[in-house]
Amino acid sequence: MERLQKRIASSGYTSRRKAEELIKEGRVKVNGKTVTELGYKVESKDEIHIDEVLLEKENKVYFLLNKPREVVCTTEDDKHRKIITSLIDTDLRVFPVGRLDYDTTGLIILTNDGEFANLMTSPKNKIEKVYIAKINGKLLPNEMMALKKGVIIDGKKTRKSRVKIKKYDKKTDTSIIEIGITEGRNHQVKRMFNEVGHKVLKLKRERIAFLTLDGLASKEYRVLTPKEVKQLYNLAINESK
Ligand code: URA
Repeated sequence: MERLQKRIASSGYTSRRKAEELIKEGRVKVNGKTVTELGYKVESKDEIHIDEVLLEKENKVYFLLNKPREVVCTTEDDKHRKIITSLIDTDLRVFPVGRLDYDTTGLIILTNDGEFANLMTSPKNKIEKVYIAKINGKLLPNEMMALKKGVIIDGKKTRKSRVKIKKYDKKTDTSIIEIGITEGRNHQVKRMFNEVGHKVLKLKRERIAFLTLDGLASKEYRVLTPKEVKQLYNLAINESK
């Protein structure tokens, strides 16, 4: 037995607070009867309708988060650091799709859809992930060419990448570089720059395929639309072929 609002929230339909509002507004039925009592207990076999639409047991949810620094992309951390799932207000067991380092910021998807996560992180797919890296020094033409053509990390050449120099700051002797890669190996961007003699001082993921951080400040997130999810599924499947 669990409280009605918890069951609605854990289906992924909405947050617990919004579920309470729906109940108070008389929009929720349990086994055909409207229930407006907040503490009402339901069993798993009970059928719940919201605005006459049957509630599925566990809907799939997809969040797009602008990850801040100093957050780990795991669902538990033995060093007691802040974990990424704590930034999302949901009762569903969501997990990050792939990883960003503790000190990397930017775009990351969280979901409870394992199939989606597998497709998106499969080494076979060629979905582009675009990063903005602040590095020490100036990226020389031969270094840029090496990054573009592929460098060896873990004994294996990286796939071709897109590299663009955005800015060089003479005063601090640092550069801002945009790099688009189609793999997701461990610390890949940092290691690629290391291979050509530069240290990544700051790293942000700006884009995954067509998804950007538009409108999302650090720590903010939004739900992906069904259309976006479908497009990502299609991309992941087609680009794995
Ligand atoms: N590459 C890295 O080095 N770190 C990240 O967090 C993501 C890509």
